[in-house]
Amino acid sequence: MVPISSSNASFTILVVVVGLGSLALLFMEFKKPSTSICEGGQIVSGQSNISKAGNKAEKPIVLLWAWPIGVHFNFKDCSTLFSIDSCVLTDDRSLYNVAEGVIFYHKNIGWNMENMPPSPRPAFQKWIWYNVESPTNTARKSGLEHLFNLTLTYRRGSGITVRNELSIVRNGEEFVLPKKDKLVCWIASNAIAGTGTTTRMNYYFELVKHVKVNVYGQAVTASRLRYEDYYPTIASCKFYLAFENSLHKDYITEKVNGPLAAGTVPVVLGPPRENYEEFMPADSFIHVNDFPDPKALAEFLLQLDKDDERYLSYFTWRRYFKATPHLLGLQNEFTHPICLACDHIASDSSYNVVHDLFEWYHGDVVGRQWRR
Ligand SMILES: *[C@@H]1O[C@H](CO)[C@@H](O)[C@H](O)[C@H]1NC(C)=O
Ligand SMILES: *[C@@H]1O[C@H](CO)[C@@H](O)[C@H](O)[C@H]1NC(C)=O
Repeated sequence: MVPISSSNASFTILVVVVGLGSLALLFMEFKKPSTSICEGGQIVSGQSNISKAGNKAEKPIVLLWAWPIGVHFNFKDCSTLFSIDSCVLTDDRSLYNVAEGVIFYHKNIGWNMENMPPSPRPAFQKWIWYNVESPTNTARKSGLEHLFNLTLTYRRGSGITVRNELSIVRNGEEFVLPKKDKLVCWIASNAIAGTGTTTRMNYYFELVKHVKVNVYGQAVTASRLRYEDYYPTIASCKFYLAFENSLHKDYITEKVNGPLAAGTVPVVLGPPRENYEEFMPADSFIHVNDFPDPKALAEFLLQLDKDDERYLSYFTWRRYFKATPHLLGLQNEFTHPICLACDHIASDSSYNVVHDLFEWYHGDVVGRQWRR
């Protein structure tokens, strides 16, 4: 669910924020009030000096109101895996009144909001709307407008954006193409039509008429691929079908990061090519929309199989950038976003309100739907 990005600017900012978090907090105290409007006017933010609970020198408390779909992880992972140690993360609701940030996972929120905190809500406190699903799979629950201060999603324009980002290669790191013994592979765990997977299933059924696809995962086969086999399996294939379950702007997930990190060419189905190119080099992937139909794509892949030089040209970008393997497993899916929320609360003291939450989130379904 974690999208990918090569935005080096935000990579740098993240590093700066981690490094200067407490210093930034200090400076923000002295900023003049200002108001800015972004993302089509949905998010209004500005500076204020609302007094906070507790001592400013102490780390802020960030409360995870409920574990995402009941999945627990160790809060210490933030410092061990991501070097984030700027807040005190807790799931202890008795700290609600002193928490500077409270994280709410969208799927956990009840339809009639019966499981949200009781009033009153401390004035200094920021509520964070956390969601990893695409708009297709995000229920429009009523009562969530004008309630949150920050959004935590894959979308650019979120208060806190979570993506797998490409990073710049340091001198001396050389890319070695893994040994390949398969042409096209696909790990598909979900074929539930209601989640928007019809487009990709239709494309797959048409594609396999023209080229062999090695399929793993519950959507098509009976068994689930073991986590330890995920990267080696992808690495052993020349091409990997990185098909998103639904088509939305910026919804470019770990399905693409997997092959980029493993040393395999992703064949992507999702938002238009231009959107991908905002996050990764144009010559690092093949887009299904580059071809009139699945047959033409299959022919191209078979052609590349016989043309090593052309195939290798899809890895030229590895001289400059690299993809970092994402964590696997359900219990790891929520770790990075929650750590980022912790860091954001520790370093940002601006005033924010998210008004039309779903107008913003659902407002931009994009992409040419592939039709039979
Ligand atoms: C900040 O706090 C001080 C002292 O409480 C107050 O005088 C001032 O008006 C506040 N500024 C803003 C922008 O709220
Ligand atoms: C957070 O949002 C709520 C609801 O819109 C608002 O009343 C509150 O002042 C905001 N607080 C901060 C610290 O941004």
